[in-house]
Amino acid sequence: TFDYMKRRKCWSRYPPGPVSLPFIGTILQIDYHNPHVSFTQLSKKYGNIYSLQNFWTNVVVLNGFKAVKEALVNKSEDFADRPFFPAYRHLGYGEYNQGLVMAQYGQVWKEQRRFTLCILRDFGMGKKSLAQLVTEEAGYLCSVFSSNEGQSFDPHYLINNAVSNVICFLTFGTRFDYEDQKFQSLLHLLEQSMQEEAGLLPQVLNSLPFLTHIPGIMPKVFRHQKEFMDYIAEIVNAHKETWYPSSKQNITEAFLEEIEKKKDENSCFNYQNLTLMIGDLFAAGTETTTTTLRWGLLYMILYPDVQSKVQEEIDAVIGRNRSVSLEDQENMPYTRAVIHEIQRFGDIVPAGIPHKTYRDTEVEGFFIPKGTTIMTNLSSVLKDEAMWENPHRFWPEHFLDANGQFVKREAFIPFSAGRRICLGEQLAKMELFLFFTSLLQHFTFHIAEDHPKPREDGCFAFTLVPHPYYIKAVSR
Ligand code: HEM
Repeated sequence: TFDYMKRRKCWSRYPPGPVSLPFIGTILQIDYHNPHVSFTQLSKKYGNIYSLQNFWTNVVVLNGFKAVKEALVNKSEDFADRPFFPAYRHLGYGEYNQGLVMAQYGQVWKEQRRFTLCILRDFGMGKKSLAQLVTEEAGYLCSVFSSNEGQSFDPHYLINNAVSNVICFLTFGTRFDYEDQKFQSLLHLLEQSMQEEAGLLPQVLNSLPFLTHIPGIMPKVFRHQKEFMDYIAEIVNAHKETWYPSSKQNITEAFLEEIEKKKDENSCFNYQNLTLMIGDLFAAGTETTTTTLRWGLLYMILYPDVQSKVQEEIDAVIGRNRSVSLEDQENMPYTRAVIHEIQRFGDIVPAGIPHKTYRDTEVEGFFIPKGTTIMTNLSSVLKDEAMWENPHRFWPEHFLDANGQFVKREAFIPFSAGRRICLGEQLAKMELFLFFTSLLQHFTFHIAEDHPKPREDGCFAFTLVPHPYYIKAVSR
């Protein structure tokens, strides 16, 4: 009885929230095509920490810098787990093969994460060799931009291809030409599979796993995710065929070697997990970085004064002829500030990736039991009115001091924070600087007058992406 009383007392400190209806809970409160907007609206009524109910699943939403930091940073392990996504099982990789992003917190995740980080470092994440490769890729991108000179064009898939070539190089040791139709179809599949995560139906299926047994429903709702993974499996298998042991030229080969070494049935280093991991790196690494760069070009045409100031800095520090290098960052506070502001204002992963509590815990005195799904409203941190001077404006000065020097801001967490912080943060930062700076070194971008004026709001497809827009690139 003592335990019972204690627990009841804890539950009395469970976060408040909107009234939960029988069976459906609070799902009607959230617009699943814009969840971060609903989350922020509800926080005005119920405070920064409130509870929702997705059918039978308890969900707690954390808003604003203070609450998100206390959870993800100060109580990092308590919030390190992930909810179970039945959609994943449908892809056919078994219960224990979980890849990286959706993996439950535990041994498998730890091993896979450690392995991937080591490998990324070995292959040059943050190092010169990889930087050179990215600069070379930026060169290819500039060439196709040149060939579009004078015409209006949508830069989306060109950027997408360039960015994913960096991941392709790391994972398979190859790049794909921008004209490669088959590869283009993979990029389209990836985008469609991200869209499949948005909206109400995927939420319903994730909350009520028994519905996933309705014949035909999963292939219908998550068709592109399956096609995407099948495609990845095809590339991985091709590598398996041609791999000769002891060759360790890319992530796939390093993983294959690990499989050989372990030869243990229960090891998480197996062929299924290899495919999942590569799929995860692809999905997490391609779409986010592409989207950030797309916001970047969009803001440059909408804020031409900012674009000019970046170019002045490029001319002063790098000039027009030499290639951009990572070391230039140190001398380019304005450009760095602009890239940070693109990430802040662009708000690319607005609702974060769902977490789950690993044990009973509390935030700001609220009790949150083990197993609760946690939504971290990253948007509410990147636009926290208590933390930013002009949260709802594109204003690079957020990251500059009175002397024009670059300053870090603690509420800048586009990569999230804590144990599950983005594994590719360093790689992404490197790519953003090198691609963005190279493009502005070679071109000035303008609004395409023959197309509708670009919109500044985004549309949510798990990531927040710009509406399609056209630009004109003029060589400098
Ligand atoms: C996770 C953002 C680029 C790999 C995440 C998370 C965010 C994020 C918000 C969720 C963290 C959490 O659960 O709290 C971004 C942004 C990027 C970017 C904004 C680009 C601008 C990349 C790249 C890679 C990558 C290039 C590939 C190397 C991952 C992985 C996870 C992750 C594997 C899952 C980590 C885990 O659950 O342990 N990212 N990311 N990301 N990201 Fe990134």
